[in-house]
Amino acid sequence: MAQTVADQSAKQPQVLIFDTTLRDGEQSPGATMTHAEKLEIAGLLDEMGVDIIEAGFPIASEGDFAAVSEIAKNARNATICGLARANYKDIDRAWEAVKHAKSPRIHTFIGTSPLHRAIPNLDMDQMAERIHQTVTHARNLCDNIQWSPMDATRTEADYLCRVVEIAIRAGATTINIPDTVGYTYPMESAKIIRMLLERVPGADEIIFATHCHNDLGMATANSLAAVEAGARQIECTINGLGERAGNTALEEVVMALRVRNDILPYRTGIDTTKIMHLSRRVSTVSGFVVQPNKAIVGKNAFLHESGIHQDGVLKNVETFEIMKPEHIGLNAKNIVMGKHSGRAALRSKLAELGYDLADNQLNDVFVRFKALADRKKEVYDEDILALVADEQTLDAHDTLVLKKLRVICGTDGPQEADMVMSVDGVDHHIDATGDGPVDAAFNCVKQLFPHKARLQVYQVAAVTAGTDAQATVSVRLEEDGRIVTGMSADTDTIVASVKAYINALNRLIVRRTKSAPNDDLKSVSYIDAP
Ligand code: KIV
Ligand code: ZN
Repeated sequence: MAQTVADQSAKQPQVLIFDTTLRDGEQSPGATMTHAEKLEIAGLLDEMGVDIIEAGFPIASEGDFAAVSEIAKNARNATICGLARANYKDIDRAWEAVKHAKSPRIHTFIGTSPLHRAIPNLDMDQMAERIHQTVTHARNLCDNIQWSPMDATRTEADYLCRVVEIAIRAGATTINIPDTVGYTYPMESAKIIRMLLERVPGADEIIFATHCHNDLGMATANSLAAVEAGARQIECTINGLGERAGNTALEEVVMALRVRNDILPYRTGIDTTKIMHLSRRVSTVSGFVVQPNKAIVGKNAFLHESGIHQDGVLKNVETFEIMKPEHIGLNAKNIVMGKHSGRAALRSKLAELGYDLADNQLNDVFVRFKALADRKKEVYDEDILALVADEQTLDAHDTLVLKKLRVICGTDGPQEADMVMSVDGVDHHIDATGDGPVDAAFNCVKQLFPHKARLQVYQVAAVTAGTDAQATVSVRLEEDGRIVTGMSADTDTIVASVKAYINALNRLIVRRTKSAPNDDLKSVSYIDAP
């Protein structure tokens, strides 16, 4: 039986969960996901019970359009939503992509605050007219229309009421109130929703949504305050992924509604046991490492280090834990894995961690697991997760594959690297020097595959404690406005670094074929096309 918020009463009002990891989350610089990864994440969100999946911004690129269309075709339960600016071309394109879904939705928006009105140079009346026309146009295509006044929290109260009323009259079924720049605070967030419910005719017939950004670290609190005031849809992303400080984190609002159901008596349809797996997958495919102290999904969220805490937890776990790890899908069984563990044990461990791999993938992971177990005394869950994540970054169609690497490093530079890399199926051999072993190895890659991508981020983290720990490395590259992220894991930090670099280059190669320079979601202007 799915463990959906069992302790919540079925009589409580439902709060819809609208996940925008694949749209607003993917907008974070470097968080670009491949087509296959978007499909996988959408499938997991659907399975978890997310009510609405904002699958992308179809006008932004051919890639986005294709991803939204395919997600729409595959969705089983969730409503699939596509974003559109306030113009007919965007709206038509969004409809073309989402129309395949059993339950499609178009989400159209325009910036209504004084600062945002100034950009397209529309006065209040002209903007009101634009809203009327575009929402009417969308509603003629689709029954399920969401409209957002972008930067609502910095829009004059009277004007906000006026434009919300226009959108409702034109046929919007959900009105989303975005705190686009993470500017509001809980009391104000609640006040805006209450005001709209009180003042706008027809407000009781539609659903109000709350969409908060985390610039002041208040996104979750602001979202919950809006719910208390009457909002019935929360917009959020896994791990709070999103531009700048990100969005409201799905795991935070859902677990807050579960743990504090005494003061927040609202139910969601989310199977919370899927949270951890989704968090890990989104972290891997987006290249955004989850900070260890992040609420709910951080590595330390259920660890107790201090003596007093450990003592308390041993006597009664509730002394320092307000939720159980298994509520978010953190396993409690802890089968110890080592070099004597067989394929069946690995399969069972993977299932416990939320993975159901195809036989050929399981075989590959098993070979790597055995190699790791030979090098490392204890293989922890984190090691296995890093291994699987690394395996999933590989693609049979990759142009570049690392075949061999030897590095000489030490106190007397320059450091040297000697590499065999296959480019389009042909092995090439090269050596190069550099300022440090990573630089030397990256120079080999650059010589074998010349490119002008700039390295924006190079990040190394240890998967577990100990000097034999695996390192996970993420690399972010930028070329002509296209930003890609690659990641890899290995007990050898230099090998992990080179594999992450090559992974990012492979993604860049795919992106080059799919889009013209700057033809990217991140470069689509929010200013309306005329
Ligand atoms: O933050 C925001 O205003 C948005 C809109 C497009 C809804 O993401
Ligand atoms: Zn947003």
